[in-house]
Amino acid sequence: MGRRVLVTGGAGFIGSHVAEAYLADGWEVTVLDDLSRGKEQNIPAGASFVRADIRSPEAREAVATGKYDVLNLHAAQIDVRVSVTNPALDCATNVLGLVNLLEGAGAGNVKRVIFASSGGVVYGDPEVIPTAETAPKGPISPYGVSKLSGEYYLKTLSILGGFQGVAMRYSNVFGPRQDPKSEAGVVSIFVSRLLEGQPLTVFGDGTQTRDYVYVKDVARANMAASAMDVPQGDDIDASAFNIATARETSVLELVDAVAAAMETRADVEHAAARPGELFRSSLNIDKAKSVLQWEPQAQFGDGLKDLITWFQQEAQ
Ligand SMILES: NC(=O)c1ccc[n+]([C@@H]2O[C@H](COP(=O)([O-])OP(=O)(O)OC[C@H]3O[C@@H](n4cnc5c(N)ncnc54)[C@H](O)[C@@H]3O)[C@@H](O)[C@H]2O)c1
Repeated sequence: MGRRVLVTGGAGFIGSHVAEAYLADGWEVTVLDDLSRGKEQNIPAGASFVRADIRSPEAREAVATGKYDVLNLHAAQIDVRVSVTNPALDCATNVLGLVNLLEGAGAGNVKRVIFASSGGVVYGDPEVIPTAETAPKGPISPYGVSKLSGEYYLKTLSILGGFQGVAMRYSNVFGPRQDPKSEAGVVSIFVSRLLEGQPLTVFGDGTQTRDYVYVKDVARANMAASAMDVPQGDDIDASAFNIATARETSVLELVDAVAAAMETRADVEHAAARPGELFRSSLNIDKAKSVLQWEPQAQFGDGLKDLITWFQQEAQ
């Protein structure tokens, strides 16, 4: 595997950490982002920057002519609620934008494409927890459908385009640079609310669970997926990996953990459960352990401390 990578969404939360990890490993890194949500200051020093929309001919051309070994795809419409109110917009970015870049990858002889999918949405409401890659798929939001469609396009166009595809099915990622206004960022929301002395809103009774994985562990998983041999196979699960911790944390446990890490007390307000919200979610990571030789290293509390420190620095 060569050493030139294009990271889309590299001005955003996860993509900026991924770009940083490639740079630290000695890769030549280009970030492509339209800055619709990301910030230029998130792009790590040492990376080149192309400002473009992934749906544009310019973005496809950048992929096709850049002589990249790896295309790492993190640019996306990430908000489930936006996908519900505007499914066409979600589809335009997450399906058409993705296909546009995959066409560029085929034309540009890219060797491997790594795609940020979501283990929190492609399985729908799973019967078995922690959920393995081969579990039935059943997305219940347009965002879930666009992520799952993306995996099918990746599989089909990798075969037609002659590159390898790898789908990374993340659980709930948390860490520095996560926008507290993003609906996925409950950890960031809780930290920022407590720093402002505000109460925390818990939807429903707070016993619903999620699997929180630290962003630097996610970046390490991307490095492993860039370096290791990844079996391809005919179905989307063959080259997909859950990237998570396989541990469930309830919202109430999260409240306690955040308050303890900040050495403060949290006032909790309960609000009505949100319709369509999954009750439990956690992913089996045996495959990532055996094939990618990856497993999460960060303790939840240490990740929380990094996030709190980052918020405090941002406030100065
Ligand atoms: N955050 C999570 O917990 C989580 C979980 C599962 C999957 N994911 C996936 O990981 C990826 C990154 O998510 P994130 O949380 O870092 O989000 P983010 O919003 O911080 O980053 C997304 C980046 O993509 C850019 N972008 C959006 N639309 C674009 C377009 N049309 N053209 C060019 N750039 C565009 C934004 O400006 C932003 O910098 C997404 O694909 C998301 O679906 C995230």
